[in-house]
Amino acid sequence: MNDFIKTEKKDFQTRVVGISENVSFSKNHCPFDEVMEPCAIVILGASGDLTARKLLPSLFNLYLNNGLPNPFLIVGCGRTRIGNDEFRERMKKALSESASWDQKKWKDFVGLLFYQPIDYDDSSAYANLAEVLGELDRKYEIGGNRIFYLAIPPILYETTVRMLGQASVSQEYREQKGWSRIVVEKPFGRDLKTARTLDRVLHQHFQEHQIFRIDHYLAKETVQNILMFRFANAIFEPLWNRGYIDYISIMAAENLGVEHRAGYYDHSGVLRDMFQNHMMQLLALCAMEPPSLFEADRVNDEKVKLYRSLRPFPVEKLEDYLVLGQYGRGTIVGKPVSAYREEPDVKPDSLTPTFAMMKVFIDNWRWQGVPFYLCSGKRLAEKRTEMVIQFKEVPHSMFRHSIGEHIIANRLILGIYPDEKISLTFQTKNPGIICLRSVTMDFHYHQGYKGPLLDAYEKVLHDVIVGDHMLFWRQDGVELCWSFLTPILEECEACGNRAEMLLPYQAGSWGPDAVKNLYRRNPAGR
Ligand code: BG6
Repeated sequence: MNDFIKTEKKDFQTRVVGISENVSFSKNHCPFDEVMEPCAIVILGASGDLTARKLLPSLFNLYLNNGLPNPFLIVGCGRTRIGNDEFRERMKKALSESASWDQKKWKDFVGLLFYQPIDYDDSSAYANLAEVLGELDRKYEIGGNRIFYLAIPPILYETTVRMLGQASVSQEYREQKGWSRIVVEKPFGRDLKTARTLDRVLHQHFQEHQIFRIDHYLAKETVQNILMFRFANAIFEPLWNRGYIDYISIMAAENLGVEHRAGYYDHSGVLRDMFQNHMMQLLALCAMEPPSLFEADRVNDEKVKLYRSLRPFPVEKLEDYLVLGQYGRGTIVGKPVSAYREEPDVKPDSLTPTFAMMKVFIDNWRWQGVPFYLCSGKRLAEKRTEMVIQFKEVPHSMFRHSIGEHIIANRLILGIYPDEKISLTFQTKNPGIICLRSVTMDFHYHQGYKGPLLDAYEKVLHDVIVGDHMLFWRQDGVELCWSFLTPILEECEACGNRAEMLLPYQAGSWGPDAVKNLYRRNPAGR
């Protein structure tokens, strides 16, 4: 067989299976290719849940995949009065339940872990911490590079930042010592005013390039892929506008309830918990203009432009644009579950929404008149995160004599969870008789890829270590999103009919029935 025929055959095969194996990586897209300088990560809140569930397992996985610098140290800080040994034992327990547990590697990893008790409002505790860091620095030669990770309740953020500043550990390159970074978990405030206050305190002690505001959704592979899909293909972008798109729906549904987080959640609700951050980022990625370069500030500039174009929410007609709900009792995966108000630590008369769907418009040339439906809720029928791009119907049906006027329009689904895939639905002829059928072309995200995979927390930790801001919020974006949401929150929380606005829905359903009134059509048939 000559080369030409072989090529033809391969080309034919790849077309039949639907995806070419011709995967190309540019050098700087390979994981762990960046220069990683030695450093220490100081986890404030090390005895908490986030550390045990996410941070330590992620750091351990990075270690297993050679994704940490060498040397690297982990210094846990918390109010609990324990020493290094007890901290290591606790972390071992947390890790040994994870899928990647490796007893042999743990023996090497455990030597990187240290613990320093701290009272968050006691300046002498931070002076001690500074001293301990200095000693570790001298012993392990980490070049004075530090990351402070705030895994503490948000109410402690400002105090802790001030104390770190006063202990001078936020300053960079003193006596030629290294850099200092701070990682802040959302929520970044609870409205525009408090977000600005938090930012002011952060900036009294850290400069913007030192601050990393985490949104773990940005680090999901399939979320990162949105920009690649849109801007590395020539065929979708010309259609990505009001001329061809009927509506876009972005959904982050969860079947979990509030779990053990009611203390936080009951004061926040779904709009602060999911919309101010993850939903707004998904919206920006799907609707923003192409940046001139794939570089953190240029990408953030485009997101900010998009947030500036959000049409102010018509708060005087809330019910036409917003549905809020709260879950009642129901069944999830065959098991009966409690109502939100029966969950531990939730007030029995709580008016906190656990579900929201809103219709938003973007006032710019590309999107004028196209509704974006954003929907998220707890205790829904399943955990599913996806974006539906619903195209318009064909302008005229030439088949009207044989098969009628209506032809189902194309739909593109960007699946984020659990289906990490891209599906395009289009019409074809049914074999035999003259009749159309909808068929779907699927690309599964991991198809044709066998390399290492980073989960969202592994990716953000890695990016903080290398100092890459691409997957983090910039403060102007945070403030613009709060500017958009704060009037809605104020209206909902202050209005006399707050209780009537909050519609009950059964756990295990797809939310209150009223969502149908928001839709012009019913995306995904739900
Ligand atoms: C968090 C919210 O930011 O995101 C949680 O605080 C929510 O309430 C979670 O459950 C959802 O994240 P994921 O990655 O499971 O979709």
